[in-house]
Amino acid sequence: MPVEWNEADQVFHLYNKKVSYLIQIVYGKYPAHLYWGRRVQVLQPSSILSFKGRAFSPTTEPADLKFSLDTLPQEYPAFGNGDFREPAYQLRTHDGSTITEFVYDSHEILKGKRPLKGLPSSYIEDDSEADTLVITMVDAILGIGLNLNYTIYRDLDVITRSAYFEHLGSHAIEIHKCMSMSVDFHESNWDWLHLHGTWARERHIERRPLLHGIQTISSTRGASSHQHNPFLALLSKDATEEFGDVYGISLMYSGNYQASIEVDPFDKTRLSIGINPFDFIWLINPGEMFQTPEAVMVYSSEGIGGMSRTFHKLLRTRVCRGVYRDKTRPILINNWEATYFNFTEKKLKELADMSKGLGIELFVLDDGWFGHRDNDKSSLGDWVVNKKKLPHGIKGLADYIQNKGMQFGLWVEPEMVSPDSNLYRKHPDWCLHVPGRSRTLSRNQLVLDLSREEVCDFLIKTLTNIFSSAPISYVKWDMNRNMTEVGSAALPPERQKETAHRYMLGLYRILETLTESFPDILFESCSGGGGRFDPGIFYYMPQTWTSDDTDAVERLKIQYGTSIVYPAITMGAHVSEVPNHQVGRMTPLQMRCNVAMAANLGFELNVDKLSNEDQTMIVEQISLYHQIKEIVLFGDQFRLLSPFEGMDTAWMYVTQNQEQAVVFYYKTLATPNPPFFRLKLRGLNPKLKYKINNAEQPFYGDELMQIGKDMPLIKKDYSSFIFYIKAI
Ligand code: DGJ
Repeated sequence: MPVEWNEADQVFHLYNKKVSYLIQIVYGKYPAHLYWGRRVQVLQPSSILSFKGRAFSPTTEPADLKFSLDTLPQEYPAFGNGDFREPAYQLRTHDGSTITEFVYDSHEILKGKRPLKGLPSSYIEDDSEADTLVITMVDAILGIGLNLNYTIYRDLDVITRSAYFEHLGSHAIEIHKCMSMSVDFHESNWDWLHLHGTWARERHIERRPLLHGIQTISSTRGASSHQHNPFLALLSKDATEEFGDVYGISLMYSGNYQASIEVDPFDKTRLSIGINPFDFIWLINPGEMFQTPEAVMVYSSEGIGGMSRTFHKLLRTRVCRGVYRDKTRPILINNWEATYFNFTEKKLKELADMSKGLGIELFVLDDGWFGHRDNDKSSLGDWVVNKKKLPHGIKGLADYIQNKGMQFGLWVEPEMVSPDSNLYRKHPDWCLHVPGRSRTLSRNQLVLDLSREEVCDFLIKTLTNIFSSAPISYVKWDMNRNMTEVGSAALPPERQKETAHRYMLGLYRILETLTESFPDILFESCSGGGGRFDPGIFYYMPQTWTSDDTDAVERLKIQYGTSIVYPAITMGAHVSEVPNHQVGRMTPLQMRCNVAMAANLGFELNVDKLSNEDQTMIVEQISLYHQIKEIVLFGDQFRLLSPFEGMDTAWMYVTQNQEQAVVFYYKTLATPNPPFFRLKLRGLNPKLKYKINNAEQPFYGDELMQIGKDMPLIKKDYSSFIFYIKAI
């Protein structure tokens, strides 16, 4: 049983083969954090905490002057009765006070894991896969229950947490802050790592030492954002890709979030993640409840790589859902960079004809097919086909594509409205706005108010009609701006600060309904590339357009950084034209293909204008992709060389049975007369013999991992190689 309750010591031990998490109820009231990390056996868990009197640290236990909430490592700390650090939550009561006294009331240990109502969460397929602990705390004066939910997976080094407020009292209260998890480490000699960026430069890695005080990352944009992914990790100072202790936390949520780390004067570290408390207030009336999103907590004793592989497995197998979860995805061509808004049915058909000949399997029609949208200034909201561009409608084009033996996919951006649209003219109050204030535009558009039920219902109906109107196998769901003037015409003044979270609940309802109604459609999420690349979105749509930056060199960093949390199967990666549309760089087709083949391969260029030589190369690359795609998409990833550290990048994927692997090696700028170089592989079975690219000479796994594989002498910028490795 992976959750044990030791009544005598008042200690919970959540464990699996590799991880332990220990909580102690102190003074019968306070859930204190004892330990999280490598699996331990503890004979005397209650001796872990040590209390020492500290000046200016008040005590809630007059009989024990050494005890203070200010120095107690806690599980879900409050503010206002002695702990001066960042609280996990704050409520404002009807009398205006923010003082609460939640104390332990009871607990329950359950087999399995429950889904969260209206929110994405990781799941199980069988009750034996996980156990759940629910600690119930109660504030007797307010009559409010606070449930702290913990689930530990049996075969994954993952603990998930969330909090749930249940109002059984008699006065409305406001929730001003409610993180999904908080945990206090006993030490602070860590580094921390996070993924930062912006549009076209997402998820770059930054590692820094922890300092005293609060360090935080967040989003206030109404989306998880290009700027900071909802993830951070604490790393032991010696942690590398392969070795060391790493603690990763991530939030299953696609909206505003905050993750913070506080190092206190006694060198303890408080880590938390949840909905961003800034600009958030949620009112709960008696009889109502509030559920926080779920936090995913991963511990790895095998460095950053070990953490990533755990996140990958969880996301791939217990977050993503639907028929495509376990299926490779069709190789697609998207017309966006080939035509932008300027296309005709004839041009699209030519692109499709040529693509089919090259072995491409799915044709995606991007932005510009509806209303009078010839640029980004109009028509979002008017989801009616533009007959000037597509005289035979979506159905005509989709049928043509399908008759060729290809699948057809369509782009939509349902969450938005253009001021120049019939929808906006009819319902000017359906967008997020504050009466009397300006409505700030971004990409000439406004955000529909998905906190309103009728707006969500309208979108469900409209999209259901479109998706049923033609043979549509794939949908690209875009979202091209962040929120401003966040207010809803449908909410009373005291609920205005609920708008952003209600929007997310509305979005999740729409996605749940549509993905249930159209189980065979492959949904790809997009927000100007990777502006909403988070675990929450993957619960509904199993892949995301990784970035609008399709340059092969930039993509190395973006895909490498993304892989810190997300597996290759969640990333869309396209081969595009040169000079590259984002950075103007010229890279060889081979390099562009080899980068895109490390994820879900697609194309986004005028294939009808390619030279014969390039066409032949694409045919060959596609055939290679078919050989390696299962290894890339379902294998374990090992990062070998980082593009953030030099001109070389390498990563590899290994099948679960270690019988096949594929290594990708890229050199951006060549060095004159370069040194000899052996690349040390990882993740192979040391005892198995492997052949590389079917060459005669086999190597042992340990040989390839310890001595390494000799790499070719590179004399050209933007060189790249793929090695297919198979056990004999
Ligand atoms: C942003 C996306 O990331 C692009 O791929 C493309 O779909 C455009 N939007 C279309 O407006």
